[in-house]
Amino acid sequence: MATLIGQPGSSRAVVVAGLRTPFVKAQGVFSGLTSLDLGSIVVRELVERSNIDPAEIDQIVFGQAIPTLLAPSIAREIGIASALPKALEAHTVSRACATSLQAFTDVASSMALGVSQVAIAGGTESMSDVPIFTSRPLSRALVKASRAKSLPERVRAFAGVHPHDLVPVPPAIAEYSTGLTMGESAEKMAKENHISRTVQDEIALASHQHAAAAWDAGVFASQVMHVPVPPAYSTTATFDDIIRRDSTMEALAKLKPVFDKVHGSVTAGNSSPLTDGAAALLVMREDRAKALGLKPLGALRAFAYAATDPGEQLLQGPANAAPIALDRAGMTFQDIDLFEMHEAFAAQLASNLQAFASPEFAKKIGRAAPLGEVDPSKLNIHGGSIALGHPFGATGARIVMQALDGPARRNKNVALCTICAAGGLGAAAVLERI
Ligand SMILES: CC(C)(COP(=O)(O)OP(=O)(O)OC[C@H]1O[C@@H](n2cnc3c(N)ncnc32)[C@H](O)[C@@H]1OP(=O)(O)O)[C@@H](O)C(=O)NCCC(=O)NCCS
Repeated sequence: MATLIGQPGSSRAVVVAGLRTPFVKAQGVFSGLTSLDLGSIVVRELVERSNIDPAEIDQIVFGQAIPTLLAPSIAREIGIASALPKALEAHTVSRACATSLQAFTDVASSMALGVSQVAIAGGTESMSDVPIFTSRPLSRALVKASRAKSLPERVRAFAGVHPHDLVPVPPAIAEYSTGLTMGESAEKMAKENHISRTVQDEIALASHQHAAAAWDAGVFASQVMHVPVPPAYSTTATFDDIIRRDSTMEALAKLKPVFDKVHGSVTAGNSSPLTDGAAALLVMREDRAKALGLKPLGALRAFAYAATDPGEQLLQGPANAAPIALDRAGMTFQDIDLFEMHEAFAAQLASNLQAFASPEFAKKIGRAAPLGEVDPSKLNIHGGSIALGHPFGATGARIVMQALDGPARRNKNVALCTICAAGGLGAAAVLERI
């Protein structure tokens, strides 16, 4: 039986507006900004543009994949820094690369329960400002020294610290359970699923071409704000600077594999790049939007999260989650007009497409038949994470916006969005224009 949280009616969640910063290459134009800065910039602008009385908003749910240690409750800090009412409650979510989809489905769920009417959901990530740790021996020594009652005692606290303990420790980029990085896992999937280098480069090229065409057609004009960059405000970020208009198969073919330098096929060209950016959605219960006289972009019909063994195919989660979301929506693959699938790596996207169509995969996850083949003309028609960039926490909200907005979407009504995430997690959501 279909379980709809998005049944047409008063309590379903509708997206009234969405906005994001430009997505830019890490260590680039946003390198001086934090995740908190980026999140506050986009939320403040979203609220201003939508002309809604901030007092209408009853919750803000926001997240990031790599937590900002100085502001771990980032949703609340964004609420405060965005000049929203100080009494606005907030909570922070994290589901790795599906974080802002989680924020969206959280507010939708609370709307279905009747505990929220108007909410902001989104995500933010600064890959230019990831926290750097000290080693355990050094941090233990620092804590001991801070408690020391005399100078000699303070000096003694560092007695067991060796020179190599002074080396800074970056956040883990490898899976805790397997020790493999995302890139190594994508490489493993390329090999096990026989995804050729050419197929990967074709996906990357299409991502750049679609993204460039969408910018040219004005699709992103309403989705992407201009950001005069503090503190000097002398530079303004106005567009996604990762898109390569001049990308060619020949140029992509020349790039050396990054994660398996000898036998590999995953390159900087067919991977999503390290990116800074933030994105936010204004979400309402449908009855509240109507009462306020607002025309929603679309509604969340159903969603699902699933997980797969990270030691097998880490980024195959979407193929596990999508059938569940479709069942919950009471829909089949044939009902989908548009597929908005996160491109962590071209090898991951190709592997998920392969699994959607595979009778063996269907059997493995206990289904009678595979979902089917995705028509390439319906897939990431305005570009995906390879070309647009992937600020981990913000990608889910970007995908929701692209699924519901844009002139090319006028006669496309139902979208399936998917995201793979660390830990073998997969997310899928069915959205419909209304
Ligand atoms: C793959 C990765 C390591 C590459 O990082 P990088 O080396 O800093 O990447 P760059 O942008 O500098 O690109 C490397 C080279 O490829 C070139 N290149 C990248 N994309 C290209 C394209 N589409 N066409 C032609 N050349 C391209 C760059 O110009 C650069 O060339 P140069 O060395 O001559 O300057 C990094 O992007 C990464 O870690 N990505 C994965 C992120 C991840 O794990 N995401 C999780 C997914 S959920």
